[in-house]
Amino acid sequence: MSTAADRPASLDPSPGVRAALPELARVAIDVARAAARLVAGERPRDLGVTTKSSRTDLVTVMDQAAQDLVVRELGRLRPADAVLGEEQGGRPGTSGITWVVDPIDGTTNFLYEVPAYAVSLAAVIGTPGEPGGWVPVASAVADVVAGKIFHACRDAGAWRREPDGSDTRLSARDSGELDTALVATGFGYSASRRAQQARLLVELLPRVRDIRRMGSAALDLCRVASGEVDAYYESGLNPWDLAGGWLVCTEAGALVGGRRGDGSAPDEGLTWACAPTLAPAFVPLVTNLTARHLAGS
Ligand code: IPD
Ligand code: CA
Repeated sequence: MSTAADRPASLDPSPGVRAALPELARVAIDVARAAARLVAGERPRDLGVTTKSSRTDLVTVMDQAAQDLVVRELGRLRPADAVLGEEQGGRPGTSGITWVVDPIDGTTNFLYEVPAYAVSLAAVIGTPGEPGGWVPVASAVADVVAGKIFHACRDAGAWRREPDGSDTRLSARDSGELDTALVATGFGYSASRRAQQARLLVELLPRVRDIRRMGSAALDLCRVASGEVDAYYESGLNPWDLAGGWLVCTEAGALVGGRRGDGSAPDEGLTWACAPTLAPAFVPLVTNLTARHLAGS
């Protein structure tokens, strides 16, 4: 199993980025909090729902409004950084840092008022989306309804800021047995990918304690970090779905990886996360099932 030490040298933060880490962490928390307040407090009667990649892939006026706020605030606080968001807008930068933004992760839950959606922000280095070519260095995932913010900074741990402002340090659950593992997952928006994901699930479900499909990849990753689930996997995530929670997981001591199964980086084909003690059983299973059922999707 490879570790952070095996990352390409180009993904080691430069001295300039290292010096900026405390500021990046502060900005991530402050901007995620401001966007979460907007999403919680300004829900319009008409959400202006339209669709994107398929009839089930929704976007509301609040997704765009939250992203607009994030882009505006990052422009004020970190004008030289680039921004890559799920919705319209974003901009190039000159600092070598890109903010990867999901203004509402769990839009379907937001629409139905199921209380599991989040604002996710991560400052990353490298090229977001290029397999093995980028890594988050500071992030915040704001659970909008619970009023909690998961946050992490490279080499400084992962934390949950409670509504009263106190911080709780996160540590992935020490879980060893696959057949008693509670595993979170999610499904994409294309019907053909969902059919493949269902076939994978048919084989996985009898081998684990149970499955949870809560509807926000960002929060699923944070739940691995806080020990609320033992593991998570999903195919077809975009960088904005996973960037914030990826760092929260690794800073909480969990492993995160992709199809290669070596814990080096998640990729478009697969994101998995689990405690190191579960990895020897969980990772080969989920990478093999993904290779069998999701190849070429
Ligand atoms: C989705 C959620 C969901 C996951 C999907 C994502 P969105 O993001 O994270 O849990 O299963 O793959 O696309 O569309 O709500 O931002
Ligand atoms: Ca998302």
